[in-house]
Amino acid sequence: MNLLILGATGGTGRALVEQALEQGHIVTAFARDPSKVRTTHPDLRIAKGDILDYGSVQAALRGQDAVLSAVGIRVRVGPLIAIVILCQVIARFTGLIGPAGWLVRIGVPLLALLVLYRRTTMLSEGTKNIVRAMERVGVKRFVCESSLGIGDSKGQLGLLYNYALIPILLRNIFADKEAQEKLIKESKLDWVIVRPAVLTNGPRTRVYRSGFDAADKSIQAKISRADVADFMLGQLTDDVYLSKTPGVSY
Ligand SMILES: NC(=O)c1ccc[n+]([C@@H]2O[C@H](COP(=O)([O-])OP(=O)(O)OC[C@H]3O[C@@H](n4cnc5c(N)ncnc54)[C@H](OP(=O)(O)O)[C@@H]3O)[C@@H](O)[C@H]2O)c1
Repeated sequence: MNLLILGATGGTGRALVEQALEQGHIVTAFARDPSKVRTTHPDLRIAKGDILDYGSVQAALRGQDAVLSAVGIRVRVGPLIAIVILCQVIARFTGLIGPAGWLVRIGVPLLALLVLYRRTTMLSEGTKNIVRAMERVGVKRFVCESSLGIGDSKGQLGLLYNYALIPILLRNIFADKEAQEKLIKESKLDWVIVRPAVLTNGPRTRVYRSGFDAADKSIQAKISRADVADFMLGQLTDDVYLSKTPGVSY
């Protein structure tokens, strides 16, 4: 098949490109920065583009049989930790007390939290472009990586995610993912929304669970990007999860 892979320079995207080539597909890796595509292969083409740029998405779609998306927003906690530490050090060594001390110790980190993890519409706006371009060009099959914790899978990522990471750091990204899934579900495409558990960089095992019940608490709530790619590629020809939102996890 001729496959367009969006998010080809990311963790899952790289695994998708490698495994798709291994399986004999003709792959177009869609990348904002083509120099970040490290794989070389006679069946690999590169399309420079941004999902927020409709023209680049439509141009890359011509001649494709299906689209796989592993587009995501990288969440960096390093800058927030650095700001929190710096503020505590400044407050301590300058001997700040009272309102000024509170401002530096609590106010600045809170402000940093709001700015660093602010509202985003990148995934939903980009997905609007993908869906519109696919419908226009006539490419039907769309396999899109979302996340456990969205829609009816809420709560399946475990306590740390449910009570700390999602409400504090991932709230805006998850809201964008909810909007992204809604757009795909409302489309006329043959879609599969894949909801992986917490991603690891472990090997491809091909031994994982999929399509488990939303109330299932027996999952390990983690899976390697390589196994997610394995599952996503399987969805190109398997109709079991067509128009469904299967979770994948060990
Ligand atoms: N991390 C987890 O534990 C976890 C769990 C469940 C689900 N997920 C979801 O799984 C998906 C893949 O995650 P990942 O960690 O494998 O990916 P990743 O390493 O974060 O890579 C994201 C990819 O999206 C691309 N991208 C971002 N904005 C783009 C834009 N406007 N146009 C085109 N490409 C764009 C990035 O390109 P650049 O290289 O140019 O930045 C990169 O290739 C994400 O949607 C993520 O939210 C993650």
